[in-house]
Parts: sequence; structure tokens; C-alpha cells
Amino acid sequence: MAAELLRESFEIQGRNYDKAGEVSGEIKVILRDLGIEAASLRRLVIVAFEAEMNVVMYARRGTLTLILTEEDVNLEVRDEGPGIPDIELAFKEGYSTASDEMRELGFGFGMGLPNMKKNSDELKVESEVGKGTLVVAKIRLNSNA
Ligand SMILES: Nc1ncnc2c1ncn2[C@@H]1O[C@H](COP(=O)(O)OP(=O)(O)O)[C@@H](O)[C@H]1O
Ligand SMILES: [Mg+2]
Repeated sequence: MAAELLRESFEIQGRNYDKAGEVSGEIKVILRDLGIEAASLRRLVIVAFEAEMNVVMYARRGTLTLILTEEDVNLEVRDEGPGIPDIELAFKEGYSTASDEMRELGFGFGMGLPNMKKNSDELKVESEVGKGTLVVAKIRLNSNA
């Protein structure tokens, strides 16, 4: 394992649509200022935003931890919420349990988890119904950057 260059945690409030996207926005600025190359940064921000939105939409609260090494960027998003009863189903493109209210706000296309998978090099989802969900993502940095 490569040495950690940075580790920082951020709180995410469930149901707070006014603040939705704030944490992924902060992460984007932090990593951009550190000079992370654009392609990896773009992928990371997509994964962080979708993970953050899922906490906002479905959970009570969550913590997103950003871990940067020389080789990769890692996200650990742990929430307290309803959990995901069928993770395989949740990964199906277009599958969503979003409410009408969420859809009116422009969310709930059922593409969050598929896009997180597409944009990360490793993605792990663990969940306990009634307790919460853990999402762990790894995005490798391009070595020539
Ligand atoms: N953190 C979470 N807690 C509980 N359920 C979740 C969580 N993340 C995803 N889900 C479930 O998985 C489904 C698919 O998620 P996603 O692909 O992001 O699509 P969307 O958010 O547009 O519904 C959600 O509709 C929800 O039922
Ligand atoms: Mg989603």
C-alpha cells in the first residue's frame, strides 16, 4: 500500500437538498489545488457526487472520507440509513426507488451506482438493511501525471 498523502472526512446530511453536492465540490477544489490530473479528477468527482447524492436522498446522515496516496484516490462513504436490500438490483441501469419529489428535483434516474462503477477502478458496496451502507471506491492516478 502506498503511503497516505491526505486523509480528510466530511459530514453529509440526509434530506438536505440545499447542501447537496457541497462535499463533492469541496473535494474537487482540494484535489485540483493539489494538481491531480484532470481525467482522474473528473472520474473521482462523478463518483463522489453520486455517492453523496445517495446519502442525501436515502440516508439520515453519512461520512465521506477522502484518502489520497501517490497511486490512487479513495473514497469511503458510510451512512446511517435504510440500507440496500438487493445490491445487485440497485446496480441495474434505471433502477431507482426515488420519490416523485426527488424526481422533480432532477434526481432518481437510476444511473448513480452504474456510473460510479464505470468511473472507478474498484468499487465495493456493503449494506445492512435497517442500519446503513458503506461504499468504497478507488480511482487510480495516471502515473505520468
Ligand atoms: N446509500 C443508500 N442507502 C439506501 N439506498 C440506496 C443508497 N444508495 C443507493 N440506494 C438504492 O439504490 C437505488 C439505485 O441507486 P442509484 O443507481 O444511485 O440511482 P438513483 O439514486 O437515481 O435512484 C436507489 O434508488 C436506492 O433504492
Ligand atoms: Mg443515486
